[in-house]
Amino acid sequence: MVATFNLKGGVGKTTTTAALAEILSAEFGKRVLLIDLDPQRNLTTMMVGEKRSAELDSGDHTLAAVFADALAGRRPRDATELVQHGVSPMQAVTSVDLLASSPKLIALQDDMARLTTLDPTTVLAAALTGVLSGYDFVLIDCPPNLGPITQNGLRIADGYLIPTIPDVMSTYSIPPLQSHLRHLSTAWSAPITELGVVITKYRRSSTVHQRILETLRENPTLPRLFPTRIPESNQIAAAAEFTDFGTLRQKYGQGGQFLALRELTADFMATTRIKLAWGR
Ligand SMILES: Nc1ncnc2c1ncn2[C@@H]1O[C@H](COP(=O)(O)OP(=O)(O)O)[C@@H](O)[C@H]1O
Ligand SMILES: [Mg+2]
Repeated sequence: MVATFNLKGGVGKTTTTAALAEILSAEFGKRVLLIDLDPQRNLTTMMVGEKRSAELDSGDHTLAAVFADALAGRRPRDATELVQHGVSPMQAVTSVDLLASSPKLIALQDDMARLTTLDPTTVLAAALTGVLSGYDFVLIDCPPNLGPITQNGLRIADGYLIPTIPDVMSTYSIPPLQSHLRHLSTAWSAPITELGVVITKYRRSSTVHQRILETLRENPTLPRLFPTRIPESNQIAAAAEFTDFGTLRQKYGQGGQFLALRELTADFMATTRIKLAWGR
C-alpha cells in the first residue's frame, strides 16, 4: 500500500494517484484499489463523476461511514460493502476499484481527535482487513494535513510518494514531512518507506524549477527523485474531467505527457519491487 502525501495542496497528488492507477490497470494489467481520504474528494469525482459522487455520499457509501461507526462506538464495518468496482471513465481501465471520500470527513476529522476508547489511527486498518487481498497495488490519496484521518491512511501504508512542484513553496515542507513520518513510523513500529519525490507540473523553461531540481538532487538528506518528471500541461489538467477520452494517450496527451506518466508508472513498479520487495 502506497500513500501519496505532501503537506502542500495543489501539487498534483490526486492527479498523480489517478494516472498511476489508470496506467497500472490499462498498460500493466494490475488490480488497483484507490482509497480517497481527502474530503475534497477530487479523486472520487475523477473516478466516478460528480453525480455518482453525490449519490455515494447521500447513500452513505463512502469512507465517512467507517469513521462515523468508530465514533458512535459501533463495531467497525467491513469496508468490502463500500468498494466501488470498475471505476474510471476510461473503457481501457478495467481493474481499478475505489473507496470513496466524502465532505463529511471534515467534521469527522475533528471528532476523531477526541476518540478515546480506541486508537483513532487504526480505524481504517480494521475496516480493510477483508478488502485488500485481491489487489496488486493500493494507492491512498491523502489530504494535505497530518490530522487523524490522514494518519489512518499513513498507518496502513508500506511506503509513500511525495508529489511536488519544483518550486520554493512546495518543497519547503519536504524535510519536516520526512521527519514527521519517521516519527510516526517509530511510534507505530511499522515501517513507512520513503519511495521518493515525483516532480509534477514541471516547466523546462522555468529557472526556478531548474534551480530547485538542482537543490533536490544535491541534498543527500532529501529523498530520491523519480527520474521522470510530469510536465505542466493543459491536457493533464483537462484529464480531471469525467469523460471517456478514448485511449489513455489521448486522455493525458500525445505530446509526451502520456509517455512521461507511463515511464513514471514503470519506475514506480520497479521502486516498489526494490524498496518494498513487492515481486508481482
Ligand atoms: N501536470 C499538470 N499540468 C497541469 N495541471 C495539472 C498537472 N497536474 C495537476 N494539475 C492541475 O492542478 C490542480 C491541482 O492538482 P491536484 O492533483 O488536484 O493536486 P493536489 O491533489 O496535490 O491538491 C488541478 O486542477 C489539476 O488538474
Ligand atoms: Mg488532492
